[in-house]
Amino acid sequence: MVSVFVAINYSPPLPQLPLHFIATGASTNSGALASHPVRPFWNLRLDDGALWNRLQHTWDREHNPILRGNGTSSKGQSHDAIHLQDTGKTGACKQDAAWASHLHDFNTLPDQMKDFVLSMHCRHYAILVDQPNLCAGQESTTPFLLMAIKSQVGNFENRQAIRETWGRSGWIQGDSGGRRWLVRTVFLLARQDTETGPHPDLSALLKLESSTHKDILQWDFKDTFFNLTLKDVLFWNWLSKHCSHVHFIFKGDDDVFVRTKALLDYFNHVGVQKTHGNKMKERDDFVVGDVIANAWPNRQPDTKYYIPESFYKGTYPAYAGGGGVVYTGALALRLQEVSRWVSLFPIDDVYLGMCLQRLRVSPTHHSGFLTFDLPEDLREKPCAYHNVLLVHKRTPKEMLTLWKELQTLSSGLGLVGLIIAWCC
Ligand SMILES: *[C@@H]1O[C@H](CO)[C@@H](O)[C@H](O)[C@H]1NC(C)=O
Ligand SMILES: *[C@@H]1O[C@H](CO)[C@@H](O)[C@H](O)[C@H]1NC(C)=O
Repeated sequence: MVSVFVAINYSPPLPQLPLHFIATGASTNSGALASHPVRPFWNLRLDDGALWNRLQHTWDREHNPILRGNGTSSKGQSHDAIHLQDTGKTGACKQDAAWASHLHDFNTLPDQMKDFVLSMHCRHYAILVDQPNLCAGQESTTPFLLMAIKSQVGNFENRQAIRETWGRSGWIQGDSGGRRWLVRTVFLLARQDTETGPHPDLSALLKLESSTHKDILQWDFKDTFFNLTLKDVLFWNWLSKHCSHVHFIFKGDDDVFVRTKALLDYFNHVGVQKTHGNKMKERDDFVVGDVIANAWPNRQPDTKYYIPESFYKGTYPAYAGGGGVVYTGALALRLQEVSRWVSLFPIDDVYLGMCLQRLRVSPTHHSGFLTFDLPEDLREKPCAYHNVLLVHKRTPKEMLTLWKELQTLSSGLGLVGLIIAWCC
């Protein structure tokens, strides 16, 4: 309970006063009264009219039990309240032209922004290819690390290179030896249809691939850059249903290289586990990557990341960008919950940041996540990778070469120090 005291030329009858708590730090002139608050605790009115901010503002109030009062809906309380309606049924979500009217410059926006706005109220899409048994079985077969990799139907070569190198499924030992950990990989796909450009029909090949490797998840929405956030949201939903006990998750792109063994060592050194009763559990607030803080939206209309001012105002919350991020399974379950109350945003990394912000979780920065690659003269030297956890970007061919070289390097484990000193 919060009491706020406001008084002008008023001396309270002190002896009769019931006991009140006055927040520390509240300056008092008379020594008895708290200072006048300069602002209300909650922003009840939203001054700027950017679409995302307005939507979120409405949602934040609706789902705030204090502001909402006794179950009374806030509908109609405010004329700037706008609502997202998703029927919740898969396949029933239609583009809604009414959204265009909320953006004064809708007609001048790039197509991907228009498409996003017209369907941003939809987040339930049917799953076309599922792997419900990926994590099934006893606790011993729950993956320690699940690698969830965003891919597109046509990227067969990337997926195969990943399976043969850093995304190999099975019991994997860290670089420093010790016990083996169960690692599994899944690829997150959507529909690549003719609307996104002319594509040959690859559905039969995909079917074959999926029945061979059993590592494909595919949903029934258009696979576009601005729809990538849907892959996060739908993956979290899938995870909470089919793989909720997984310990760690790597979520990344199919054009990065990950030193999986170094990542396994990192988990065991960084102390992300805490005892819970007599069991060890991972923290539910741990996320690590290349953290970008205080970034401003890109306002160049002809770029891939362009977000118009009419859609979003303000800076982005801290987020992990650049091809890959790691978090605990426990945090993924919280993200699944909170994402239901966060409006979709076209850039997936930023959306994760927005969800984390609402969970009051700050992402940890790790200099081993190399969004912008190594300096060019070091790229070819395997020993330059000894502090690297992730590097962007690598072709399937480069993945295979680098993998082989790193294998050779780590098999001469005792020599590693020497080699590093010698060549880097
Ligand atoms: C909320 O409900 C309780 C009990 O139903 C009632 O006593 C109280 O006055 C209500 N408060 C408001 C703000 O409506
Ligand atoms: C996302 O997918 C939906 C369903 O396929 C589609 O209607 C929408 O236009 C897509 N959005 C973008 C930004 O491409």
